[in-house]
Amino acid sequence: MDQGAAQAVSEAESEEFGTTATWAADSIERLGPVHALPAACQGSGSPEALHWLCQELALQPGRRLLDVGAGIGGPAAYAREETGVEVDLVDPMPQACAAAERIFGLPALVGDAGKLPLDDRGHDAAWSLGVLCTLSDQPAALAELARVVRSGGGIGLLVFVRLAQRQRVHMPDNDFPAWRELRDMLDDARLDLVHEHRLKDFGAPDAGWTARADRVHDDVRRHHLRDPRWQRAERQRKAVETFVDEGLVEGVVLTCRVR
Ligand SMILES: C[S@@+](CC[C@H](N)C(=O)[O-])C[C@H]1O[C@@H](n2cnc3c(N)ncnc32)[C@H](O)[C@@H]1O
Repeated sequence: MDQGAAQAVSEAESEEFGTTATWAADSIERLGPVHALPAACQGSGSPEALHWLCQELALQPGRRLLDVGAGIGGPAAYAREETGVEVDLVDPMPQACAAAERIFGLPALVGDAGKLPLDDRGHDAAWSLGVLCTLSDQPAALAELARVVRSGGGIGLLVFVRLAQRQRVHMPDNDFPAWRELRDMLDDARLDLVHEHRLKDFGAPDAGWTARADRVHDDVRRHHLRDPRWQRAERQRKAVETFVDEGLVEGVVLTCRVR
């Protein structure tokens, strides 16, 4: 195993992705399991995009998918349910790993995208959704994805790319790459781009899915509204939404193949 270097996770990120993971899991337990998938798909929030990725990566029983930056496990649970693929999860937040286990019974390793605790070429496919732009060393994370997936295997990414100058989309703990930079990083990591789609080109989730996700969000807000950790996480979430609404950043869903 020739691993890269772990990337620093700031205190704000621990709050945004760690503490809130436990709160979301608590809320899903309060409201019932029908809320689990919609509330736990925190990167794309789009079942249509996940369905497309499952097809593109040819996920099926007997194959292994790795989810890097898996959060509380929604996308991995979706893939397992839709395709029967075996899934492994990695996230640096112990609370997120515990939540994925608690909500979906999914195996989750505490680990870092830049230094995955996994053998070379042990997976048929991997995805990392809404994670890359939170990383300080994005090339290292892409190189690690290429290392742990077999040659010819598929990798799916949801990345928020920058459509404006870097200083206009400055946000602590985030660095949105421009499309050109992302393409260069993929190439340097020996990943061949296969297909790409704008996130907004996928259909919006149906009303039931959105309502269940919103119920969990509202429930967490009701319980933690006055907690500065909730307020800070909410500001981060809204900042990305505002960049997208203003056309400064856009979500791109893409697949590539390991050379
Ligand atoms: C926006 S959430 C997306 C979660 C999940 N991929 C999804 O789509 O629901 C970003 C995730 O990236 C994880 N993350 C942050 N820094 C990371 C790192 N250095 N390595 C791996 N994952 C990281 C966070 O803990 C969080 O779970």
